[in-house]
Amino acid sequence: MKRNVTLEKLFIHPIVQKYVGRSGMAHAISVAEMAYDIALKTNVNPDLAAKAGFLHDIGHYEWYSKDGEWNYEMYKENDIHAIKGAARAHKLLVRCGENLHDAKEIALAVLLHTDSYLPEGKLHLNSLQTVVAEADEKDEEPGGGHHYREIDYFSALERIQVLDERIQQTLQSNSLEQTS
Ligand SMILES: [Fe+2]
Repeated sequence: MKRNVTLEKLFIHPIVQKYVGRSGMAHAISVAEMAYDIALKTNVNPDLAAKAGFLHDIGHYEWYSKDGEWNYEMYKENDIHAIKGAARAHKLLVRCGENLHDAKEIALAVLLHTDSYLPEGKLHLNSLQTVVAEADEKDEEPGGGHHYREIDYFSALERIQVLDERIQQTLQSNSLEQTS
């Protein structure tokens, strides 16, 4: 089974370098890796989980920063990064050639990876959305430290390529299982 869009294709895209880079490339890659691992255990599509994990914070923006650090008061009160991120991820995926169904699934998982911007109340997440929210939570550090963790371009690319390879192998063995 061939994927229309690999993580590497997303990673090298200037929009991803700009916006995912801004909210923390190291965090995005860790969440993608963890989302993949959890997806395998929970019978969720690992390709969609890794992509949604990788793109989940693509909607962050800078207006709440103060002296290069985030202003959490302002952030909590005004943030809509998941809404912005869902739209941005969707546009990017469609432009990169993702099929519309998968682009929508990934965008919804980005939209619902946090409920911090929503009025009180419980969300009913589907399994893909749960995987991404869980992976994000696992990688969070106190005080938003996960957004500041650094990684150089080539180490990041290498981890992305390794994850692409693992996803490809999983999808291949899944389709073999289905046909045998
Ligand atoms: Fe995050």
